[in-house]
Parts: sequence; structure tokens; C-alpha cells
Amino acid sequence: MRKQIAAANWKMNLSQNEAESLMDQLLASDFNLSLNQSAIFAVPAIYIPLAIQKLSGKQNVFVAAQNCHQKTNGAYTGEISAPMFASIGVQHIILGHSERRTYFNESDALLAEKTEAVLAVGSTPIFCCGEPLEIREAGTQNGFVDAQLKNALFQLSAEQIVKVVIAYEPIWAIGTGKTATSEQAQDIHAYIRSVFAAKYGQDIADQISILYGGSVKASNANEIFSQPDVDGGLVGGASLIATEFAAIIKALK
Ligand code: 13P
Repeated sequence: MRKQIAAANWKMNLSQNEAESLMDQLLASDFNLSLNQSAIFAVPAIYIPLAIQKLSGKQNVFVAAQNCHQKTNGAYTGEISAPMFASIGVQHIILGHSERRTYFNESDALLAEKTEAVLAVGSTPIFCCGEPLEIREAGTQNGFVDAQLKNALFQLSAEQIVKVVIAYEPIWAIGTGKTATSEQAQDIHAYIRSVFAAKYGQDIADQISILYGGSVKASNANEIFSQPDVDGGLVGGASLIATEFAAIIKALK
């Protein structure tokens, strides 16, 4: 069975005290994860050691990075590499979030390099894709997402691609309170799986977890996660509220 994942993306939010208090509240909510489920916390890089210390006692809970540099080391002031994250126990890294594509000009070609850098140290890329509003309105979202996947991931072998987690995040649903309907999510998740099936075969495609992101909250998580090709969520705003995120974890299949 595919891994079902509730991933929190805190983005650039919270002071250290606030981060600590959020983690304390989450732990007090006493969520439990079964063998095929994970909760992943992509916290600001500076809080990763604290988050590992606080959360790593919990079964199937992981601390993630929100980005990394494509090179292993060198004169890249201010950047952090995949091997550096691996060296402190980080096994998951979000790549290609739409905010990074938009504000930091991350291209598919760059994301291909970053994906390989993360896989090279044995970590899991959480690779984001998703279309802007005008593409959705034109009805061409499948082609748009198809190009993002092909350009950044199709150089990977079958052994590598099964280690990648996909997060489909329609840009028009991020931070807007406007969620894709569960039918829209299922349609494009099934399409994404078919893209991998065509390239790598159905067996491989069936092993790839595809998360939905975009205004996921406690009140809609059950319905979205119940779709057959939705394997959990990547959650922004609602992951900053302990009761919300605990309920989202509980909504995993
Ligand atoms: P929201 O849940 O705040 O819409 O953000 C989604 C997201 O960008 C997660 O990466």
C-alpha cells in the first residue's frame, strides 16, 4: 500500500518560542500513525534541530526542509545543501514549491538538479507541481502539470522515481481558502499517476504517493483524502494550528 502522508509546510512563519509551543500542543493532541502513514514537518531550517529533538520520539514522524541547494558544497553564501540536511537527520526535502518557482525563479531544469541532489544522499524529495488560475480556467491544467513532471523528473530511473513524493498544489488554491473540489483533485491525481504509468509502468506509478495541497483544513481533509489517488496533503496555513493539523493527520486513510 502507498504511504499516506500529512505534511506540514510552515513556510517562513513563527518565532522559535511559537514553534516550540505549536509542537508541544501537537504532541499533547496525541495523534497516532499506523505503519503506512507519516507526518512530516517542513519547518524553517533554523528550527530543524529543535523539531528533531521534540518530535523524533514519535513513530513515523519526520522533520523536513523546505528547499535545498542543488550543489553539495561550495561558495554559495546563505544556501544549505542536501548532504548538510542529511547529516543532521533530515530525510525529506520539499522541492519546487510554487512560491520558490515564482519568487526565486526556480525552473524545471534547476529542479531536476535539486531532485537528483536529494536522491543522491538517500533522502526523499517532495516534488511540487500545479497550475496557475489562468491555466485552470483555460482547462489546460493536465498539459501544464505534465510538462512540469516530464521536464524535472523523467531523467530519473524507476528505482529513483519510486522514492519521490509528488505534491499537486494548484496555485489558485494556495492560501486563498479556495480548495479544489475532491473531484478536481481526484481527476488530476489520477492523471499524474497515468503520466508515471506511461513512462515507468503501472506497478511503479501505483507506489508513488501523490499529496494534494491548497487550503487543506480539518473540515475538508476527510473528503479530499478519501479519493483513491489522493495519498494525503501538503498543508500550509492549517499546519500552524495544532488542533487543525492533528485533525488532518487523523483524516489520513
Ligand atoms: P495553504 O494550505 O495555506 O493553502 O498552503 C498550501 C501550501 O502551499 C503548502 O505547501
